[in-house]
Amino acid sequence: MKKEEILVKKKCLPLLLLVALIAFSQPVVMADQRDITLPRRPSTIGMDLFSALENRKTTREYTAARLTPQDLSAVLWAANGVNRPYEYRTAPSAFGNSYVDIYVAADEGIYLYDASKHRLKFVTATNAKSLLSGQRHVAAASHVLILVADTEKLPVMITEETRLRWAHATAGAVAQNVYLACAARRIGTCLVGGIIEQEIRATLGLPDKATPLYVIPLGYEKK
Ligand SMILES: Cc1cc2nc3c(=O)[nH]c(=O)nc-3n(C[C@H](O)[C@H](O)[C@H](O)COP(=O)(O)O)c2cc1C
Repeated sequence: MKKEEILVKKKCLPLLLLVALIAFSQPVVMADQRDITLPRRPSTIGMDLFSALENRKTTREYTAARLTPQDLSAVLWAANGVNRPYEYRTAPSAFGNSYVDIYVAADEGIYLYDASKHRLKFVTATNAKSLLSGQRHVAAASHVLILVADTEKLPVMITEETRLRWAHATAGAVAQNVYLACAARRIGTCLVGGIIEQEIRATLGLPDKATPLYVIPLGYEKK
């Protein structure tokens, strides 16, 4: 190899390394200081499964009290938290893909539940609880879970109709997990299918491919 060729190669090396680094690096998602680290979920919930099933019911009257971070942590983990290696979840899903996202609407804003880190990722500072559904008890809840299908996470050979059907099945399992955790923690809840899809889309800034499915208000029951 000629001396000039070696010189050119030496000069290009840092540039080539930089291109390779950009091409192969993962996108870096920066943590927002408004993200919330949830407390560790409790190791037991204080009620056996059959008692929780006996107590499972829909509640539409809530007190003004806000859910404690411990209760929110327990409900979110039960809903669709990571329960095994390889990030498998408490709710079943086709191909083991987590294509049902849980957003959490609170007074101070909306967050996306990051199951792998058991954290709430800040989305927007809007208090949108009254926009999610026309139903009064949703607006009055302490927190509202918003279940959104992200069917793009399913393999391309699955039709959109099937993807959505599977997302509804997973959302149903998530909802029952929430109902049972709420029964055990004495929290009121309700699976709500009467949602205002356009408002949810606009508030969360969802892409066309994402589909809001249900909302689930949470609050301590007014006796
Ligand atoms: C798919 C689905 C959609 C529902 N949508 C609503 C709703 O929009 N508003 C509401 O108040 N309850 C809704 N519910 C809750 C039911 O009204 C409730 O489960 C039913 O009255 C039976 O009461 P229980 O859950 O106490 O057994 C829905 C339940 C399901 C399964």
